[in-house]
Amino acid sequence: MSSSWSFPRLIAHRGGGRLAPENTLAGMRCAVEHGYRAVEFDVKLSADDHPYLLHDDDLDRTTDGHGPARPKTWAELARLDAGSWLSARFAGELLPDLATIAAYCREQGLWANVEIKPCPGREEETGALVSAAVATLWAGGEEKVLLSSFSETALAAAQQAAPQLARGMLFEVLPPDWAAIAARLGCASVHVDGERLNAEQATAIRSSGYRLLVYTVNNTTAAERLFEWGVDGVFTDALPELAALG
Ligand code: G3P
Ligand code: MG
Repeated sequence: MSSSWSFPRLIAHRGGGRLAPENTLAGMRCAVEHGYRAVEFDVKLSADDHPYLLHDDDLDRTTDGHGPARPKTWAELARLDAGSWLSARFAGELLPDLATIAAYCREQGLWANVEIKPCPGREEETGALVSAAVATLWAGGEEKVLLSSFSETALAAAQQAAPQLARGMLFEVLPPDWAAIAARLGCASVHVDGERLNAEQATAIRSSGYRLLVYTVNNTTAAERLFEWGVDGVFTDALPELAALG
């Protein structure tokens, strides 16, 4: 990845953070309305291998569907209401596929972090097929997209399927061998939980040549401290509160 690679330092988490249903087109529009130029969202594969947006393994929390997402086809998922759970104002907001969100991001010039979030047991194929889809959907605009995952298996498959795309390894806690993992996967960035990151770790990551992104940062003081540590970007649910730091 070229050293000129850059992205906005405020990234709207799951689209609209707290203000809109997560991982929906309404969420991405909300980010834009609040002046955000970067979004993060979670992508899975349907049972028939169609990439779409959803965070959880199950449908219950954020849609009107029930049970595990894994056995559902895209035809079944595409009918789900993914907005009513948050507010009646978002009733009828559909569960979006990756192509719909990619088209919106490209039309708006938004920078996107596509988090590969496989259904359990589908890590390798999700990494391969989602990264291949991203390569097609962002063709000619690859500098505007970054893949990431908590799954090493998924990122290794992405590296194989679409080596030209930037990758970031997600950690809940930075393990002692983080640098070996990031190097093996050819990562451009390392993504860490802000509650479990310290200044020394931030310095070590930055001085090893990786960009450092931190989730999920919902208060201005915490974000300012992280930027002082050299953090390159923060994911936030608190869009209006952090907007002034952009
Ligand atoms: O990619 C950053 C952040 O989204 C990781 O956690 O659980 O919100 O997907 P999660
Ligand atoms: Mg995520």
